[in-house]
Order: sequence, then C-alpha cells, then structure tokens
Amino acid sequence: MSENMQHWWQNAVVYQIYPKSFQDSNGDGIGDLQGIISRLDYLKELGIDAIWLSPVYQSPQDDNGYDISDYQAIDPMFGTLDDMEELIREAKKRDIRIVMDLVLNHSSDEHRWFLEAKKSRENPYHDYYVWRDGEEGTPPNDMKAIFDGSAWEWVPEVQQYYFHQFSVKQPDLNWENPKVRREIYDMILWWMDKGVGGFRLDVIDQIAKEPDRRITGNGPRLHEFIRELSKETFQKGDYMTVGEAWGANPERAKLYSNPDGSEFSMVFQFEHMMLEEQPGKEKWDVAPLPFVKMKGILAKWQNELYGCGWNSLFWDNHDLPRIVSRWGNEKEYREVSAKMLATLLHGMQGTPYVYQGEELGMTNVRFSDISQYQDIEIRNMYKRRIEAGYSKEEILESIYARGRDNARTPMQWNDGKHAGFTEGTPWIGVNPNYTEINVEKELADEDSVFHYYQKLIRLRKELDVLVKGRFELLLPEDEQIFAYTRTEGETQVLVCVNFFEEPVECALLEEWKDARVLIQNYEGTFGSEMRPYEAVMLLKEN
Ligand code: NOJ
Repeated sequence: MSENMQHWWQNAVVYQIYPKSFQDSNGDGIGDLQGIISRLDYLKELGIDAIWLSPVYQSPQDDNGYDISDYQAIDPMFGTLDDMEELIREAKKRDIRIVMDLVLNHSSDEHRWFLEAKKSRENPYHDYYVWRDGEEGTPPNDMKAIFDGSAWEWVPEVQQYYFHQFSVKQPDLNWENPKVRREIYDMILWWMDKGVGGFRLDVIDQIAKEPDRRITGNGPRLHEFIRELSKETFQKGDYMTVGEAWGANPERAKLYSNPDGSEFSMVFQFEHMMLEEQPGKEKWDVAPLPFVKMKGILAKWQNELYGCGWNSLFWDNHDLPRIVSRWGNEKEYREVSAKMLATLLHGMQGTPYVYQGEELGMTNVRFSDISQYQDIEIRNMYKRRIEAGYSKEEILESIYARGRDNARTPMQWNDGKHAGFTEGTPWIGVNPNYTEINVEKELADEDSVFHYYQKLIRLRKELDVLVKGRFELLLPEDEQIFAYTRTEGETQVLVCVNFFEEPVECALLEEWKDARVLIQNYEGTFGSEMRPYEAVMLLKEN
C-alpha cells in the first residue's frame, strides 16, 4: 500500500467479540457463530465497521481458544466452517469486516504438529517446537510460565523439555524453523481467501524467543519475522492487522505500524494499562492510578506516532477489567463516567476498539467463591497464593480488581433469563446487574451509554479532524482535568473531561463557550464548573 493512501481501517471502529460470552443460539450455555450472526443488526446499529473475533478455531479450551489444535477448523462448540463462511458473508452485507485472531506464538499441545513432535526427535515435526535437553526434574533454566509454574515441561518419549510461555498446554512454536513459518503463511492465505478483513496477532512480540538467553519479548529476529510474515500474506491486500505487543514502546510501534505497510497496520500497546502496577510486583497487587502520568503517556503515544505510525485506542478487552469499574464509577455515576471515558478515547487519533458490553457500560463482577471463576490465570494464581498464605478474601479482592473473568461474563441482552444470553446454563455466571444494564433497556433510552457510543462512532465518520487532526495535550499537570485538542487546518476540536467525582473549575471552557457542542454527557449547556465526570467535545471552525 502506498504511504499516502487512506486505509479503510483509519476511520473504522472495531468491535471485539469474545464468542464464548456473546450470544448462544443452541442452548448449550456457550456463545456461538449463529448467535453472532443473529446479532449483526445490533452491531450495525451501533455503527461499527469490523469485528475482531477472539479465537473460534478448534481448541481444547485450556485458555478459552488461545490454545489452537487446528487453525483451519472451527470448534464444534462454536459451529462449523459453513457457519463461519456465513458470518463473513452476512457481515459483509452490512459492510462489516471480520478480523480473525491469530495465535501464532504457540499452538495447543493437542495440535497434530505437537502430537507428532513429541513422538521422537527424528519426527519431521519435532523441530516445530522449542526443545532443550536436560534431565527429568532439572529443567534447562528457571524461567516461569505466565500462567504459573515452570516454562519447561518434560516429555519422556524424547527425553527433552519443551518451552511454553503460557500454560503447559500451549507449547511455543519454533519461529526459527522456516517450515513452521511457511505453514503459518499458507494457513493465513487460506483465511484470506475466505474473505476475512484482517487479523489480530496474539502476543506477537513473543514469537522470536531465545530461552537460552532468557529472551521472551522483543527477540533479535522479531521484526525480521514480522516483515516476512507481512510480505507473504497481508501485503496482498488492504487488510487490517493489529499486533498485541505488551512490550512495545513508541520506537518499536513506529516499526510495527510503519505507513510503508512493511509490518502491521497498528499494535495494541499497554503502557497506560499497566500504570497501577508496582515495580517488582504482580498485576494482582494494585496501586492507585497516577492520573497525571497516565495523561502524559497517552499524549506521548499520540504525538510520537503522528504521521509515522498508527495507534489503536482501547480501554477494554477480554484480558482486562472493565473500564467503568476501573477508572470510572460503577455506582452512582456509572452512565456518566462510562460516557466520559468513551469521549476521552474516541476523540484521539487511531482506530478505536469497543469491547462487547463496553457500549452498555457493563461492569466488573464479584463472584463470592473461586469455583465460580473459570479463567486459568485466576485459578492458578488463587492456588499459588493460598499456598503462599494469602487469605481467600484478599485474593478475591484482587480478582475483583484485575481478574480476566470480569470482562468475560455473558453479554447482557435483556432482563429475562440469563440476560437473554442462553436458554441453557451459562458456562460462566451472568453479572447480577443485568436487570439494570442490558441492551434492550439501552436501545429504548435515547440517553443511554449505547446511544452515546453510537453518536461518537458517527462523529468519527463525519469529522475528518477526528481521523487526521494533530493532538495536543492541554493542562498537562492538572490533577483532575484531562483536556486535549485535535487540529486539522482551520478546524479544531476540544475534548475536555473531569476525570473524577469532585466538581472542578475549568477556565479553559470559558474560551470555548461559543463553540459547537459535538457531544456531552450532561443535558443542557456546559459552564466552567465541571460536574462529576463531566465530558464535552467541542468544535471550532476558525
Ligand atoms: C493474549 C490473549 O489475549 C490472552 O487471552 C491469552 O491468554 C494469551 N495471549 C495467550 O495466548
């Protein structure tokens, strides 16, 4: 793609579906492809352009589909390949593209390649994975897996250890082996032929691992591998590609999202999402959000990538707690704070992502017992922390704040049985607040969070400045207000929000009092005293 070309994904808004929890169509308690098809009109109404579909491939579901045993088959619990083709077709009719989730760092241990690989060292598939010699009980080093325990697992048949950065059922693929890379490219080309619109690449910054040097993320050959991957596949059309890169800094992101198209369209970076973490501690040990720092970080990403890269904009996904519970107020100010957060994000430059239920202001869940949690990461952490002497209450508190299942409870469609998600028994409990927060109710209410998202999405289509405008952070040291402008030629947009509950005086708004209101989260006019979580987006044409 030429550097000056405008890509479809630059003014698109993407909706992420976590298929297991979106809509069940056959009463087995698990969301499925036919369920998604039945909700396409709802998504069309919201106004989105693409769906990022978390994995629906054949999988033993050790990590909810991020452990794939066949990249070219659909897991029966989600449906069939025919259903997938129908979804692509039906979405296309509504001008919605399907973005598949590619998990290329690892496969399932039940993938045909791994079943062969562990048979013998001479097996042609052996070298598809990362093996090291060692003795039983003495792994090559003490590297830990992200989901707990050693990163090495012993296989008696070959008298070797294999490397796994995630669960023991997610052996790492060996990207050093050109045959592995070729298999991957062919698989991707096959999906491209089926008419998908793009791909999200799971933990892509971890593919170039070198465990002997303890390197997992950002390995020396990372960008070489990605450029080859891109050239052999995505560069054959205007596909949207987004890499998940926890270890990205702006310099690297400029490579990943180079406008020359040599790598991806954009990456998910997580610098702003890790701000409540404390050095040397785990994500479970939560500290308060350093607000001023957060503004600086978001501004840095906006400015650094301007004109030479592209940002993805998100607050939520299936691995993160819900933003309204995290940075907003899930009680008295739920709606207004959900809208404030949405305004802040959708005013920036990049491609916005909406995670299922975010457009309703869905909240975190508080299950009372560990048995109600399904996530492998939560379960393993719970076991380890109980053994280490933490109390159940303490652990549950950290799960309430950070657990991945917060985002994985079923989509809340109505106030009927199981929130309209399933006729059967849901695989994970529905958030009890579904009687208050649900699609049916929000569709009927003009002032709902849903309609606010709908309007923000529409604004992005109407105003070029939201796509192209240069970003400038205002009041960088202010401890309560987040304000910035976007400027393109004579057109300027101001986004100004009170990030907290306490009212605050904002002189800046005086200067903008005659500007056109594009969207605001309180009724009537705005003044220089900002109400709890108040947000405005204003337009000036000089
Ligand atoms: C990132 C995915 O988003 C997460 O859900 C998964 O557990 C890991 N990668 C491993 O694939």
